[in-house]
Amino acid sequence: MTNKSKQKTINWGIIGLGKIANKFATDLQTVEGAKLYAVASRTQEKANAFAEKFNVTKAYNSYDLLANDPNIDAVYIATPHALHKENTLLCLEKGIAVLCEKPFAMNANEVGEMIARAKEKNVLLMEALWTYFLPHYQYVLKAIENKTYGNIIKLEADFGFHRDFDDNTRLFNKSLGGGSLLDIGIYPIFAALSTLGIPENIAATATYFDNGADSSCSMTFEYNDGVTAYLKSSLLENLPTEAIFQFEKGKIKINTMFHQPSTVTIYSEDDVETITFDYETIGYNYETIHFNELLRQGKTESPIMSFKFSKTLIKTLDKVRELINLRY
Ligand SMILES: NC(=O)c1ccc[n+]([C@@H]2O[C@H](COP(=O)([O-])OP(=O)(O)OC[C@H]3O[C@@H](n4cnc5c(N)ncnc54)[C@H](OP(=O)(O)O)[C@@H]3O)[C@@H](O)[C@H]2O)c1
Repeated sequence: MTNKSKQKTINWGIIGLGKIANKFATDLQTVEGAKLYAVASRTQEKANAFAEKFNVTKAYNSYDLLANDPNIDAVYIATPHALHKENTLLCLEKGIAVLCEKPFAMNANEVGEMIARAKEKNVLLMEALWTYFLPHYQYVLKAIENKTYGNIIKLEADFGFHRDFDDNTRLFNKSLGGGSLLDIGIYPIFAALSTLGIPENIAATATYFDNGADSSCSMTFEYNDGVTAYLKSSLLENLPTEAIFQFEKGKIKINTMFHQPSTVTIYSEDDVETITFDYETIGYNYETIHFNELLRQGKTESPIMSFKFSKTLIKTLDKVRELINLRY
């Protein structure tokens, strides 16, 4: 690797200029060696406004036009779940590296297709599960790996907030992949898979909105040796949104909004300590820095948010959907 290639500014593009695109773009401004070069919206007005806000060079009124811009190195897909596969393939076809929002796609078949295409084209692809890259989450993973408090014996993780039902919005609209499980249930599931691995057995129940999207989902993941993960997502009520790991010799609680920059409280045999982390951004820069490094090194897969992990995650979501009879 030459010094020059290390220094190369990565030209980013964003497809779909909604809420998360704004946050991603805000944090991208803090990332060295990266520039938000182009954005694409279904409407020119929106693209122009976004481009002005973030000082973006190109503002496109179609996703196709962005994918055809030869100056783009990486694209962040920030459209509703149901469009992730189509938008990802569009960019991979053109040899552009893709960081695609969670859930990676609607089901394991779609994810398999995306990964196969990335491999065929030899292009970097990663699911944007930002939590994996956040320092407080990495801290907890280290404590688990080092068995600082012994083995995990129980996990309780949830994610819930109340929103009035509105079928016109992405969160609830079934044709866009709306519902609690795919949108926020993915985080408690991620907490279980990233710490305990694939469960031996899964049980799940759900409640539904009138349009068939799930309004809440309760899951139990059973592991060997009686280890259990109790997981829940809800769009009906505000939940603590914590991840609590019970160990043989203590407890680690990732405090509220555990999936985003947060604090960690450790309950050991004779002490309670809350650890804070020096977060200065919304938290989307960590995944981006990792992605940029992979791209500069010519890598096509992340060792952290690996294809294997993304496949396990979507297969687990598929399994839960089968159990609660949630079909898209
Ligand atoms: N990592 C995280 O923390 C996080 C947080 C929130 C959401 N997400 C994920 O990011 C994705 C987008 O979420 P969001 O909250 O940003 O959604 P959003 O505010 O609704 O934005 C989605 C954007 O997708 C584009 N789009 C294309 N076709 C669309 C259609 N048929 N209906 C609606 N929008 C369409 C629109 O952009 P244009 O009009 O510009 O084309 C829209 O603004 C979801 O998959 C979600 O799971 C991740």
